[in-house]
Amino acid sequence: MNLFRKKSIENILKAAETEHHGSLAKHLGVKDLTAFGIAAIIGAGIFSTIGKASADGGPGVIFLFIFIALACSFAAFAYAEFASAVPVSGSAYTYSYVAFGELFAWIIGWALIMEYVIGNVTVAISWSDYFTTLVSNVSGYEVNEWLRMDYFTAKKSYADAYVLLTGGQTLDMIKANPDTAYLIEGFYAYGSAPSIGSMKLIFDAPALVINVLITILVYRGIKESRNASNIMVLIKLAIVLLVIFVGAFYVDTKNWHPFFPNGVKGLLSGISSVFFAYIGFDAISTTAEECKNPQRDLPRGILYSILICTILYVIIALVITGMVNYSELKVADPLAFVFEKIKDLQWLAGIIAVSAVVAMASVMLVFQLGQPRIWLAMSRDGLLPKAFGRIHPKFKTPGFSTIITGVMVALPIFFVDINMVTDICSAGTLFAFILVCGGVLKMRATQKDYNPKFKAPYINAKFIMPALLILSGVLWYVFDKDTMLYYFKWESIHAFMTKMPLYMFFIGFVVLSYLSFKHNFSLIPALGLICCFYMLSQLGYKNWLYFICWLIIGLAIYFAYGYKNSKLNIENKN
Ligand code: ALA
Repeated sequence: MNLFRKKSIENILKAAETEHHGSLAKHLGVKDLTAFGIAAIIGAGIFSTIGKASADGGPGVIFLFIFIALACSFAAFAYAEFASAVPVSGSAYTYSYVAFGELFAWIIGWALIMEYVIGNVTVAISWSDYFTTLVSNVSGYEVNEWLRMDYFTAKKSYADAYVLLTGGQTLDMIKANPDTAYLIEGFYAYGSAPSIGSMKLIFDAPALVINVLITILVYRGIKESRNASNIMVLIKLAIVLLVIFVGAFYVDTKNWHPFFPNGVKGLLSGISSVFFAYIGFDAISTTAEECKNPQRDLPRGILYSILICTILYVIIALVITGMVNYSELKVADPLAFVFEKIKDLQWLAGIIAVSAVVAMASVMLVFQLGQPRIWLAMSRDGLLPKAFGRIHPKFKTPGFSTIITGVMVALPIFFVDINMVTDICSAGTLFAFILVCGGVLKMRATQKDYNPKFKAPYINAKFIMPALLILSGVLWYVFDKDTMLYYFKWESIHAFMTKMPLYMFFIGFVVLSYLSFKHNFSLIPALGLICCFYMLSQLGYKNWLYFICWLIIGLAIYFAYGYKNSKLNIENKN
């Protein structure tokens, strides 16, 4: 059994060209790719989830934005390099096939479902929140509670509120208490929902509707998707710039003191939300086969989009933390919120809500484009059934995969809540980034004929990585001695598991430093790898456990289907 059998770049490119299922339409240039990148990046993260990150981290959250932008840029260089070397739809999946072999390729293909499908669940739920608030503000019509949330959240809220009510509290008391107010919506949803047999019918209808509309658009064609994405990007960039220019006049520098109100811990608790805001630049590499000149345009599109978004994000973070006290930002719609507070600018809050709806729809569009194209590549390699690679004869899109993606996004909308899925999406994406950076390091160190058209500048990491390792060890000791020396005093399994990811990170750092020293690794992908590993270590062990469970399911499918049906297996037998 050879689990690490590899594909050569040459064979992959040949297979993509001579594929029998029909070919994809080539309509994309560098502007479209940059627009797709911005479409995928600016969305629920900046319009929603960064509220909490700013409230926990204070104005210093801009350093988190800068650190994560750097980490993502290092990873973006790795993506850009691979995208120019292997310009096919599979993105990180195909890159891992070339660098690490089939088993890793499958694992990454499987993990990317967490990025694209679960990412879209997150964005769809966030979209629905903004949309229902917008409808209620504009028309006064309130969408029924049971039509705007998931079943389990409603059921749990109902049960918790019921306990409080039987304990003597009234609904008004529950609503007035900031710790319990969030239970009210679920209480009404569960209480008023119609039943099918003994089951209550509760689901997030707007999230489902937007998912269906986006699926139809992506199914319909790449040109139509591109045109829609370009328009949405223009709208959201205009609004983001408006927020920056108008908001700048209302910054009160007093709000920037203290800059780090909750210290490093407060800052780091925002990693997942801020990272989520950057996810998406990688998705454009899945459109490689629809680009006119992928080897030139993909690297540019990836790097331009991340650069533009980074500049915008850092300025936005400075503006909103300057406009109000950081502690007020723990809201689901921080950008609209800061303007709502200023009497003359309430009209702008309404415009921001509209643009948030547009911005999030564009993220969904690009993710919904990305997932089917990865399945297309996996099916081409035999790891998924042929249907996943079928291209619609008229629309020239991977039709079956597009529909399955829509169905897979729709199902969790019925039962998961947004906080859970944001972290899982970040974990899956970070895992992919780590492997792509690792893949570039491996290809450069071991494949003499590896010569992509675009290469990240080479700086020797031989001494820099070990030096950084020592520096991080010192910083760890200074800032968090308790965790560092923890293993000498056992407390509980929970405490052990909580600290485990950080230990894994340090072990990984030691290994990477050793390999960098031995093989003269290139610094940029090495930094990308280690920064992404660090962020992964900050996500909390429960996300690691979810992720491991997900991988086990994936491996079971691989051994039951993929291994036997892999084209490499069949070719070897012949
Ligand atoms: N970066 C994307 C967003 O913030 C996933 O919605």
